[in-house]
Amino acid sequence: MRYDTVILGAGAAGMMCAAFTGGRTLVIDHARNPGEKIRISGGGRCNFTNLHAGPANFLSQNAHFAKSALARYTPRDFLGLIARHGIAWHEKTLGQLFCDGKATQIVEMLRAEMARAGAELWLSTALADFSHDGAAFTLALDREGGRETVTAANLVLATGGKSIPKMGATGLAYDIARRFGLAVTETRPALVPLTFSDNRFAALSGVSLPARLSNDRASFDEALLFTHRGLSGPSVLQISSYWREGESLSVNLTPTAPLFDALRAARQSSGRHELKTELARHLPARLAEHLATEWNLQGRLADQSDTALRALSDRLASWSLTPSGSEGYRTAEVTLGGIDTAGLNSSTMEAKKLTGLYAIGEAVDVTGWLGGYNFQWAWASAHAAGTAI
Ligand code: FDA
Repeated sequence: MRYDTVILGAGAAGMMCAAFTGGRTLVIDHARNPGEKIRISGGGRCNFTNLHAGPANFLSQNAHFAKSALARYTPRDFLGLIARHGIAWHEKTLGQLFCDGKATQIVEMLRAEMARAGAELWLSTALADFSHDGAAFTLALDREGGRETVTAANLVLATGGKSIPKMGATGLAYDIARRFGLAVTETRPALVPLTFSDNRFAALSGVSLPARLSNDRASFDEALLFTHRGLSGPSVLQISSYWREGESLSVNLTPTAPLFDALRAARQSSGRHELKTELARHLPARLAEHLATEWNLQGRLADQSDTALRALSDRLASWSLTPSGSEGYRTAEVTLGGIDTAGLNSSTMEAKKLTGLYAIGEAVDVTGWLGGYNFQWAWASAHAAGTAI
């Protein structure tokens, strides 16, 4: 069977791309349903974009690569699309836009857009073999108990990254890219909870508070959550993309203002209070108790010198922690790294060395922050490739 374009992967990027390609398009996926990550995203409501999405919200070896595609398909463009499909939405926080209803509305919208463009969708289909003869791609596909061979002038790699293998994530796009001479940068789990080998925070599991997580590359002010295995919550997921094994992180537990003035005022007004009791007025009680033990905070407020209060305030603002690892691809929301952008044209996503080969979405070395940025990259890169084809 001959197609103009075959798109591998019916996720966010693959389906979106099929809505724009002209000619005869086939989308294939080994899963039983398309867009499974969309379905479970944003707690079932899909954080489908971010109003503030710009190149600065993405990690890549080439910080400029995403600029062109992001500028040509913006969050406003996606809002226009969902408005045409009557999907209601709201802004939660920090420019993050969610469906009022269910994430499956986005999946249904993309299916409708693919159908409108005349694209075919083959699910439960596995790629058995592939080649390129200098003019077209030939793909051997296993489906419905048999094998079919299809040819196409264009092949779009849209099989995403390696995160959550249980949901069908594979490294297929990387393997195909390498076979056709494209480089793949180091890949690692990102937007992922961080772990501590001694489970030192197990007793704090469930405690959450606003915090600032920083290292010398980035800083994020969002919620921090203690878990049985370590740290999670938006601020931790964000900084995880900038963290490497062996490095420490600075945790500011009083991100709005240092506690020094408040502690001094409390010493004046309630000097007989235990120091740890005062701490519990500013931090969740279990955390205050934990820190009081770990930092050996004893005595009444009245017994504390300015120097001691200053030292405590500073410590709360820069608690240094060294995670031992992360929860890995099992729970990572995305994969950092991917197909090296050096081999791709930034306005079309086409491989520079092989006409007709495209890579889009998470498979590419462009990784967004938490908060709707990764879907915006999926939409924008898919639009860039789809309109170029
Ligand atoms: P995606 O993973 O969506 O699609 C890849 C497709 O390829 C899948 O359908 C898969 O089955 C298929 N495939 C893989 N290997 C294959 C093979 N060997 N053969 C055939 N098919 C194959 N982002 C965001 O912006 N807002 C959010 O709210 C969230 N929430 C969120 C929650 C959770 C739990 C996760 C895991 C991730 C998110 N994300 C997110 C990230 C977002 O889901 C992700 O970045 C995009 O789905 C990437 O889109 P792609 O189309 O590139 O890959």
